[in-house]
Amino acid sequence: MKIEYNKSLKRYNTFGIEVFASEFATITSVTELENILIENENKSLFILSGGSNMLLTKNINSLVLHISIKGITVTEASDTHVLVSSNAGENWHDFVQYCIKNNYGGLENLSLIPGYVGSAPIQNIGAYGVELKDTMVSCEAINISTRKKHVFLKNDCKFGYRNSIFKNESKGKYIITKVTFKLTKKEHQLNTSYGAIEKALTDQKITQPTIKNISDAVIKIRQSKLPDPAEIGNSGSFFKNPVVNTGHFIKLQQAHPNIPFYKIDENHIKIPAGWLIEQSGFKGKRWGDAGVHEKQALVLVNYNNATGNEILEISKKIVTSIKDKFNISLETEVNII
Ligand code: EPU
Repeated sequence: MKIEYNKSLKRYNTFGIEVFASEFATITSVTELENILIENENKSLFILSGGSNMLLTKNINSLVLHISIKGITVTEASDTHVLVSSNAGENWHDFVQYCIKNNYGGLENLSLIPGYVGSAPIQNIGAYGVELKDTMVSCEAINISTRKKHVFLKNDCKFGYRNSIFKNESKGKYIITKVTFKLTKKEHQLNTSYGAIEKALTDQKITQPTIKNISDAVIKIRQSKLPDPAEIGNSGSFFKNPVVNTGHFIKLQQAHPNIPFYKIDENHIKIPAGWLIEQSGFKGKRWGDAGVHEKQALVLVNYNNATGNEILEISKKIVTSIKDKFNISLETEVNII
């Protein structure tokens, strides 16, 4: 495989930030991956998937491995279920659409999430009441130092809200090569609990939705408030929705009776970061080419040629402001590089 030098990463990250990789290789098979790991044993590596959850603030002086291993296989079928495996380099949304076309249910709420399949388990992607962990059975990965294949079963992955073992004790140790899902062939377990999905279906007078109806509704909702990275650079939600204890929440609610919230358990309440950011006056604000999206304050955007540091500066302003106003510490969802 070819190694390229001083390669621009602008089209490899959905924020569209121009930084350069000292070395860059596109990996199209597990064998290629094993070989490049052997040949570059002592080199510092940077694993790049769809580039949809990172903010690049500097050049990468490492060998960048762009994991582009393609292929989808149906590995087991029963009357009611299939096991569908996707290699890591498939585009996530294309994979979801493949499943919908074949009437495999379970991923429809996760339509239109940017990125590749291989990075989906790292942050346990989620949207509209569904998370990857609800259908993922296992994922295969190569251990970077031993170059051995390791299979992680769902429970090994320690999934949480936008979290997994790959962001904690196994961070930087594995390259995910394949992800397997158990999906339904009939009697799909539809999740229409999210208000906007219900509304979209009612508006269209759909009373018995198919997985395609749900996917179409999700696509419509996402398109109405989330910017398309092909048009405006962004990485989806920049921050996680914070969780506060009930005592803290009651005080916030007294001061802000309209505060939206989701109860997690008796002691914990999740608050939408987008609301906090909007209340702090950042929604739609722009500084040069960097800004806060006008329709969803949780999304920071690159209108054209913003640098990673310009975006980072805005995120720091937001964090300080939310801390001062609400005594809440926002955590980034996006990885800052
Ligand atoms: N809100 C505002 N102002 C805003 C944005 C949101 O007041 O500018 C309020 C909304 O009115 C609503 C609440 O916040 O009451 C929640 O908003 P929304 O439904 O848009 O969802 P979110 O909590 O902001 C999360 C995920 C999204 C996912 C949606 C739908 C996180 C960090 N984000 O956003 O995921 O698509 O729910 O399930 O959990 C992503 O991770 O990149 C992502 C886009």
